[in-house]
Amino acid sequence: MSELVLPRVDGVQGARCFVTGAAGFIGSSLVRVLANSGADVVAFDNLATGHAENLAGVREETGREARFIHGDVRDREKLARVLPGADLVFHLACLGVRHSLHSPFENLDVNARGTLSVLAQARAAKVKRVVHTSSSEVYGTAKHVPMSEEHATDPHTVYGASKLDGECCARAYWRCYQTPVVVVRPFNAYGPRSHSEGDSGEVIPRFLVRALVGKAPVIFGDGSQTRDFTHVYDSAAALVRAAVTPNIEGETFNVGAGREIRIDELARIVVRAVGRPELSAEHIEPRPGDVLRLFADSSKAARLLAHQSSVAMADGIADLATRLRALGDDAVRALDANIVVRSWA
Ligand SMILES: NC(=O)c1ccc[n+]([C@@H]2O[C@H](COP(=O)([O-])OP(=O)(O)OC[C@H]3O[C@@H](n4cnc5c(N)ncnc54)[C@H](O)[C@@H]3O)[C@@H](O)[C@H]2O)c1
Repeated sequence: MSELVLPRVDGVQGARCFVTGAAGFIGSSLVRVLANSGADVVAFDNLATGHAENLAGVREETGREARFIHGDVRDREKLARVLPGADLVFHLACLGVRHSLHSPFENLDVNARGTLSVLAQARAAKVKRVVHTSSSEVYGTAKHVPMSEEHATDPHTVYGASKLDGECCARAYWRCYQTPVVVVRPFNAYGPRSHSEGDSGEVIPRFLVRALVGKAPVIFGDGSQTRDFTHVYDSAAALVRAAVTPNIEGETFNVGAGREIRIDELARIVVRAVGRPELSAEHIEPRPGDVLRLFADSSKAARLLAHQSSVAMADGIADLATRLRALGDDAVRALDANIVVRSWA
């Protein structure tokens, strides 16, 4: 397998881009895709769950620096100082789904009120486009598949509810004030800088880290849950296309890879990918509020954004395994030590 190549997207060269949640998993790839495409990037984050190191190496990888500003999206005065001058705003800052299970008030506050705060300052600054990053979690479990943007929204968690709240505010800003907003609903992403630790831990890096230290994947419930896993380079490229495609203000787009995969099948793929096929998954109780089925219809993004996911899952998993191995055995053991199995408690 050849190394995955950072995408380059036309249309953002020279654009001043303001990225919230930039030190997080998707944000740190988005910063790279923007810089690689010739944009000037301001990276905004309060490092609640993101890491400053996620932005190290941007210059080496892309030839361009990203400027980091520490701040909270709920801090409107700070945003009023640092956001003006941006052409494009990408709003990704959030607290995650497991966080919402133990801290629902803080989760809603950041994900919903924080979004409103970004929208208000983007409106005041008269930016050219706000791309609001929502989530497939707004749907709850699939009532039919594949799920188009018309599928009913029925979130299972306060996180899903907070993301729906944020995207409703985003579309309201377009309808009421003509703030040029586009909403993107990524389906589950994986890839470089994905979280395995604490309540941010995602299934693919958790399975990989455990397999690399010789431990079996842990599955919540029977493993029949499905997801449409999308490589983060594809998720990030879709966000950029949503920022530069003309005449799509007020629209909402799914972004998935177009493959539905069961979690028990994923566990087998991961252990095979790291050469440990003998590791068979352990099953524990289901996670509260876990969505059972997600599978995107991303044809609207293909049609209007000319976006197609391009990274095959085998290549994306192999690339992430290579990156984790390159950290060295001690670092992988340290990552394993930071995995919290019941990460919602
Ligand atoms: N990872 C996925 O699979 C996935 C799927 C669908 C949607 N999304 C959405 O994509 C976006 C990014 O997700 P991610 O997986 O990169 O999450 P992440 O936790 O890695 O990144 C979120 C970032 O937001 C920052 N943040 C949190 N609270 C903040 C605040 N009050 N002010 C400023 N920054 C704050 C964190 O420090 C972190 O760096 C989120 O909006 C999420 O809802 C992610």
